[in-house]
Amino acid sequence: MLRRLHNVQPESFAFTPANQAWAEGQITKYPEGRQASAVIPLLWRAQEQEGWLTKPALEAVADMLDMAYIRVLEVASFYFMFQLQPVGSVAHIQICGTTSCMICGAEDLIAVCKDKIAPTPHTVSADGKFSWEEVECLGACTNAPMAQIGKDYFEDLTAEGFGKMIDEMAAGGVPVPGPQNGRYASEPLSGLTTLTDYESGKAKYNASAQLATDIGDSIKRIDGTEVPLLTPWLGKNAVSGKATPPKAAATGKPANQQKKAAKPAAEKAPAKAAAKPAAKKAKSEKADAATPAATGTPKKPRTMKAPRKAGADDLKQLKGVGPKLESTLNDLGFWHFDQIAQWGADEIAWVDDNLSFKGRIERDGWIEQAKTLAEGGETAFSNKVKKGKVY
Ligand code: FES
Repeated sequence: MLRRLHNVQPESFAFTPANQAWAEGQITKYPEGRQASAVIPLLWRAQEQEGWLTKPALEAVADMLDMAYIRVLEVASFYFMFQLQPVGSVAHIQICGTTSCMICGAEDLIAVCKDKIAPTPHTVSADGKFSWEEVECLGACTNAPMAQIGKDYFEDLTAEGFGKMIDEMAAGGVPVPGPQNGRYASEPLSGLTTLTDYESGKAKYNASAQLATDIGDSIKRIDGTEVPLLTPWLGKNAVSGKATPPKAAATGKPANQQKKAAKPAAEKAPAKAAAKPAAKKAKSEKADAATPAATGTPKKPRTMKAPRKAGADDLKQLKGVGPKLESTLNDLGFWHFDQIAQWGADEIAWVDDNLSFKGRIERDGWIEQAKTLAEGGETAFSNKVKKGKVY
């Protein structure tokens, strides 16, 4: 696009006293001999004052900064944010016409401009109040379509609302910038789709903080007792390997050597029965260290040695239970929703202790979920699991 000085120019330019003081203040930001660095802020303020950059304004800025006129013209003609021709006395409207805005209705906004302002861009309306142009992406794509007026963004526009906005400005009104459809910023239109647990107060921590809290390893030295957690791809067999590291701990060797000592035993995958007591001990030690006191008096719930003939329930349908927790629950003797549905405060306290974390059962509402599922019902989460939408 050809960008050159307009053929009609005013006689002179001067900053208002307040803008002059502001401009002189800007210049002091830069070291002696580097005042030219203030050229863009000064040009922008001149444009904010006059609406567009006149030749006298460019010269006045050049004089203030001790720059050659051509250097200032180079800057002003390079950046499209600087208007080199007269604009509307009330507003020069820049409509974003790039992909997101185009898809969401930029062309309708341009039609409004053509109808209410002038049929062509950079043409001042008959009443002298408005002008418009189409510009490239202004970086507000999630609030498309949008327009910039001066320094402000007006987003989530509709042709109808935009037309009313122009009428309001023509009548002396000052529309409020930002999303025009009630959005606060660029959050999803239909409401939050993420972090909803946090918003509702259900979740205390984000996912990574929660996991660190659950496994209690935050600043703890990794001693290998969480082998299954660190090697989830090894599947259930790795769970039995969990029993081996404490053995090494008994030798009093440094942690790195203990890990080495534990490895062969873990690879051999010792029998589950032999592994359980040590694994349980490690769990309960960790629970003591990482969780607050239980609210109920821990009481072991009724457990089962194996699932019923029809097979175990898919405990992963409970929100908050993943493959590892399901495996642990099975190891503890819980296979069915109706078992979990019967837990009271004391039983929850016992299971909490044995799962090495506290509060999750209540926080995720396992009991209510289990009751629903035990009665053959569904929850929103179990539905997702069935459809394979939870991994
Ligand atoms: S496409 Fe319009 S702001 Fe990005």
